[in-house]
Amino acid sequence: MSRPKILLTGSAGQLGFELAKTLAAHAEVVGRDHATLDLADPDALVAAVRGVRPQAIVNAAAYTAVDRAENEPGRAHAINAVAPGILAEEARRLDALLIHFSTDYVFDGKATAPYAEDNTTGPLNVYGQSKLAGERAIAQGGAKSLILRTSWVYGLRGSNFLLTIKRLATERNELKIVADQFGVPNWSRALAQATAELVALGVPTLGERAGVYHLSAAGSASWFEFARAIIGNKQHPRVVPIATSEYPTAARRPAYAVLGTSKLEATFGISLGHWRELLAECLASAS
Ligand SMILES: NC(=O)c1ccc[n+]([C@@H]2O[C@H](COP(=O)([O-])OP(=O)(O)OC[C@H]3O[C@@H](n4cnc5c(N)ncnc54)[C@H](OP(=O)(O)O)[C@@H]3O)[C@@H](O)[C@H]2O)c1
Repeated sequence: MSRPKILLTGSAGQLGFELAKTLAAHAEVVGRDHATLDLADPDALVAAVRGVRPQAIVNAAAYTAVDRAENEPGRAHAINAVAPGILAEEARRLDALLIHFSTDYVFDGKATAPYAEDNTTGPLNVYGQSKLAGERAIAQGGAKSLILRTSWVYGLRGSNFLLTIKRLATERNELKIVADQFGVPNWSRALAQATAELVALGVPTLGERAGVYHLSAAGSASWFEFARAIIGNKQHPRVVPIATSEYPTAARRPAYAVLGTSKLEATFGISLGHWRELLAECLASAS
């Protein structure tokens, strides 16, 4: 099978950085970070796609500052909704595939069992609204696309819960962590490896099975459980469970945002391990 040419946006982000490495085994990757391609600039986006002429576009760039988005809805919408729509239109012109990442925050969190791809959406915050608008803009753009929804991304680079907890653990004796919001922690490298496995199936195969898929590790956790797992069996610091109401944030977050992944497994035979195993692997890779 010939190696497709892939245009990768957001190549310096948590997920983008890992994708740049893992996709290179299966494709010729042209990576663009924020400095070299601004998704808020529609002309630059069009020029980049027409210049590279990829067989696939992997969009790992996004406005991910969930709380800040409440005060910057226009910017969040431009990057998370308008830009993916432009990428989809440009992909359609080239008959290329668009692989795009979305979020568990498209849901309202009122479910009590893992969300399926076709469950009703109802984002509670501006970030989730902008990402849902991005999914819809891609559908309107008319390209063959895979929309991969994931959740709670962490890794050893960038800004994420794991690195925050590791830092706070050296600064404080006690950490108060929200215990009534449930989701699934996902290691950026595992997400990138699964995406590379998808690409290895071949762009035409993916195009035939275009759609929305949930890409997530197995299991579920509260932020409190995730923090406890990061700290491990160390006695210090003490981790104390608190309610969401005791930790006010600008953006509301879903109470339950676990993504069911059976569609991805049934369609492509791809699944990630349990989040606890992947966290252990991630922490081991740091030492
Ligand atoms: N992080 C999570 O917990 C989470 C959860 C669910 C879904 N997701 C989704 O997963 C995907 C990857 O997220 P991530 O965790 O890798 O986020 P990330 O670490 O914040 O990476 C996003 C990248 O996009 C870049 N970016 C921001 N604005 C841009 C612009 N205008 N033009 C070009 N690049 C821009 C950022 O650059 P700067 O740093 O320079 O701004 C950053 O490198 C996103 O679609 C996100 O919505 C993430």
